[in-house]
Amino acid sequence: MSQYDLIVIGAGPGGYVCAIRAAQLGLKTAVVEGRDTLGGTCLNVGCIPSKALLHATHSLHEAEENFAKMGLQTGPVQVDWAKMQEYKQSVIEGNTKGIEFLFKKNKVDWIKGWATIPAPGRVQVGDTTYETRNIVIASGSEPSALPGIEIDEETVVTSTGALALAALPKSMVVIGAGVIGLELGSVYARLGAAVTVVEYLDAVTPGMDGEVQKTFQRLLSRQGMKFVMGAAVQSVAKGKDGQTVSYKLRKNDKEDSVTADVVLVATGRRPFTEGLGLDRLGVTLTPRGQIAVNGQWATNVQGVFAIGDATPGPMLAHKAEDEGMAVAEVIAGQHGHVNYDVIPGVIYTHPEVASVGKTEEQLKDEGRAYKVGKFSFMGNGRAKAVFAGDGFVKLIVDKETDRILGCHLIGPGAGDLIHEICVAMEFGAAAEDVARTCHAHPTFSEAVREAALACGDGAIHA
Ligand code: NAI
Repeated sequence: MSQYDLIVIGAGPGGYVCAIRAAQLGLKTAVVEGRDTLGGTCLNVGCIPSKALLHATHSLHEAEENFAKMGLQTGPVQVDWAKMQEYKQSVIEGNTKGIEFLFKKNKVDWIKGWATIPAPGRVQVGDTTYETRNIVIASGSEPSALPGIEIDEETVVTSTGALALAALPKSMVVIGAGVIGLELGSVYARLGAAVTVVEYLDAVTPGMDGEVQKTFQRLLSRQGMKFVMGAAVQSVAKGKDGQTVSYKLRKNDKEDSVTADVVLVATGRRPFTEGLGLDRLGVTLTPRGQIAVNGQWATNVQGVFAIGDATPGPMLAHKAEDEGMAVAEVIAGQHGHVNYDVIPGVIYTHPEVASVGKTEEQLKDEGRAYKVGKFSFMGNGRAKAVFAGDGFVKLIVDKETDRILGCHLIGPGAGDLIHEICVAMEFGAAAEDVARTCHAHPTFSEAVREAALACGDGAIHA
């Protein structure tokens, strides 16, 4: 029987990062992964392939909308969907092979197959049982479909099917205005599909800053996406002329429907723990089926830890990565730590949306006094030069101390700009610290500084 210090179950961003860090810290480490390639949902059917399609279709949008304005003459741009899929596949391969290389470099063994935990200290894959001092479960999540709606991944799809449609649809209904629905909905809208988003709540992207939600929905509507808000989907009926999504409006119980070639069900994800034998092992789950862990990612079973989407908290690759590094450090006898107050969220539409920390709505609920500094990208020279003046930076700070409590951004490069504020928050910075930091001109980042200035004596370009 092979003896390991650590066996990680699952090679998604949580699992593979955990394994690499553990190996760097001198632990003999293996990862069990049943997919043909490493990287989990994120690299194979999630973050990475969707970014390839978002990039390709944003380029199409630029060619169609902005090239002529800059004196670039082209004929009509043709979309070769098969070629775009090849490009997406090559991006996936480049990334998943990269993880394989990192495993070799760090001497992490890849045990191919699906793992069960027959007892603490044991991991079984097929007929082989491995002995290990510690186990980290990083088994991730899967789409949680709506009851009664049958997914075939061809005409009624989850994000997995939506990334690999056989042909470009002329129309699409997206159920759920969350991150997946809006990212993939905007891909197909740019590719010419009539996209209708049906959402249960009255605002897009639940939990996000209210002003960002409104601006985001307005900008997506301007790009041609239609929204039916406050509508609970009841059923999806497949037919020869398309799939019909029936819904009931919450405000008046009125029923209506919308028909499209393809229906994307994007109503959330749930932890994936099937086949691990957690029941038999006696691992405690939360009422929502997540693996319950303490502040050091330990389950109630000695030597068994869990991280990422299978555990409570936001289902984000980078949250899983941080937990992966931290739990490896804990197992190696160090002090792993994750600051859950500073985990950014990014939506990779165009414009991008990003946020970190508290929203105004949360602070009002908490009864905490705050100030807001806001700056529109219309006042940013670089943004205006590249047709990206839509959106704003909103910085929220403590009213008395000026300490940064949150930042909410919609605009060009939002997903990168947010990290300046993440670092500032990690250092307990005040808005004045950001405002007094020299920012290169002309960059989008000047808008962040201007929002910080707006928390004090005022922005310059407002
Ligand atoms: P989500 O939880 O973000 O959004 C689901 C939406 O569906 C909600 O707005 C909800 O109100 C709505 N909904 C639920 N039932 C409904 C019904 N019967 N009728 C109409 N609307 C209904 O879930 P999503 O977008 O599927 O994403 C899953 C997870 O993956 C999330 O935790 C997300 O953060 C993560 N993710 C993150 C990405 C990123 O960071 N860029 C990209 C993709 C996914």
